[in-house]
Amino acid sequence: MTDTRIHTVDELLDVLDRVVAASGRGDRSDASAAEYWTGLLSTPGHPLATQLPDEPLVDWAERGLLGELDGARVLDVGCGAARNTRWFAEQGAVVDGIDLAKDLLDQVRPTMPGAVTLTATDVLRDPLPDRAYDVVYDSGCFHHIAPHRRITYLQRVLPLVRPGGRFGIVTFAAERMEAPSDLDVVATGDTYGGMAFSLDDLRTIFAGLTPLDLRPVRTDRPGTFGPDFLNTALFTR
Ligand SMILES: C[S@@+](CC[C@H](N)C(=O)[O-])C[C@H]1O[C@@H](n2cnc3c(N)ncnc32)[C@H](O)[C@@H]1O
Repeated sequence: MTDTRIHTVDELLDVLDRVVAASGRGDRSDASAAEYWTGLLSTPGHPLATQLPDEPLVDWAERGLLGELDGARVLDVGCGAARNTRWFAEQGAVVDGIDLAKDLLDQVRPTMPGAVTLTATDVLRDPLPDRAYDVVYDSGCFHHIAPHRRITYLQRVLPLVRPGGRFGIVTFAAERMEAPSDLDVVATGDTYGGMAFSLDDLRTIFAGLTPLDLRPVRTDRPGTFGPDFLNTALFTR
């Protein structure tokens, strides 16, 4: 982008992108972070290098909150090494996983069930699937997106949930973690190791949807991924 004077919202957002990119940590939610995420999520012993599905997914499925998963169309946004993507496919769903870490997707693709399609996509900037989904799920992607790009995310992702469908999310929990304020991030460009959101934050940010469940992720469910520093929310559209 040239240094013309801002006169559109897109130009304002682009300038704020540059503030984030110029910070020490850089932007963890654009193409420049692909190598970082591939390395982190394939590091043996890293908590996220697990094959376990998220605790809330298993809980919601048991309680019937996700609707019928057999034959459902699911989108996993920022799917990483696709552990939750795989879980949805094991429940009978046809699942699209998107993530900007192309090399990571290339590594895990051969191990995925046939009903999984993994596509290298920046959810904020690239064309998105031209269809609506029964379930859209985001575990740990949204909280790496700087505050100004949250608007872009909401505009792009929520229309992908079909009317009556579900949007599920897992984020860092502001009740149990230190988190930068939006003002801090906009002023410094530093998104730290991710933003943290309270349950009230999630209710407010996704106010266009109807909440079905908002709670801390539970740590006591064997066979699931459930660290104590996460919140989760499920909405219907
Ligand atoms: C903390 S990891 C979570 C991965 C996976 N969902 C899991 O729970 O195992 C965050 C993921 O979001 C992806 N990501 C971040 N920004 C993104 C964007 N703009 N578009 C697509 N993926 C993005 C990263 O590449 C990374 O794989």
